[in-house]
Amino acid sequence: MYRLAHLSDPHVPPDGSPRRRDLFSKRAIGWVNWRRNRHRIHRRDVLDALTDDLARQSPDHIAVTGDLAIVSTPAEWQSCRAWLQELGPPDHVSLVPGNHDAYTRRAIPGTALAWREYMAGDPDTSAHGGFPYLRRRGPLAIVGCSSAIATAPFMATGRIGHEQIERLRPLLKALGDEGLFRVVLVHHTPVRTSGDRYRRMTDAGAFRELLADAGAEVVLHGHEHRTTLHWISGASEPVPVIGVSSASAIAHGNRPAAQYNLYEISGEPGAWSCRMRVRGFDGGGLLELSDTLLFEAGRATGEIAKVP
Ligand SMILES: [Fe+2]
Ligand SMILES: [Fe+2]
Repeated sequence: MYRLAHLSDPHVPPDGSPRRRDLFSKRAIGWVNWRRNRHRIHRRDVLDALTDDLARQSPDHIAVTGDLAIVSTPAEWQSCRAWLQELGPPDHVSLVPGNHDAYTRRAIPGTALAWREYMAGDPDTSAHGGFPYLRRRGPLAIVGCSSAIATAPFMATGRIGHEQIERLRPLLKALGDEGLFRVVLVHHTPVRTSGDRYRRMTDAGAFRELLADAGAEVVLHGHEHRTTLHWISGASEPVPVIGVSSASAIAHGNRPAAQYNLYEISGEPGAWSCRMRVRGFDGGGLLELSDTLLFEAGRATGEIAKVP
């Protein structure tokens, strides 16, 4: 059995305030918002307790689907890198960036450099540099995509882009032909759950069409700060699209406290079984919250709901 953990959106709380010269335009607005509201929601002690619990589960691999940063200053790139190193070495942790990591145009090359080993494909694959990247781990083919783009203030949209989609198509088909369990990582959900046009993946329709054509076994995402499961069309079986709560959050509004998902994958090509266990805070403690069978002997257990 192979065990994959998924966590997301740690928004790693910084030790101090950013340098004044790093706060301009969108970063200044975002920092004021953080100090007014969000620093009470995302807490370092919560993040540390969650990652300690995850370490005790000793998963074979860890997937992180972005939003490590808050306003993505150079100091944050380094503190987020330190957090990644606490989580594990680069070959044990696969990362894709979120919109907070691409907070400004300058942040995109900054995070790409600071976190590069965690976002690199295996050196012997054609999908080595940039996105999508490919990592083979046990029965898994981990395919990391980027939906992180710099946006105007108050916008948190994402986009995969035509070029990435057309690189993904032959890659996912070939990995499917190889019989690997394809895990697609992306920050924004391709399922429009909230209808919020300021937070959506703008080319979600094209991304869903790609998955319906080429297939994948699971799509893991962040951004929504809640644990969700939707099924969309795949090449043969339906594809579960799974989000996870923020790894550093206390419960707030209709969003739950910090959680992570643990996938247990067994079986063989064409007959995979996969269950998803959700662990997180409930009341005062950290415990297992649910246990869901996603695939049994190659058959998906869920049905495709109408996707808006
Ligand atoms: Fe986030
Ligand atoms: Fe996000």
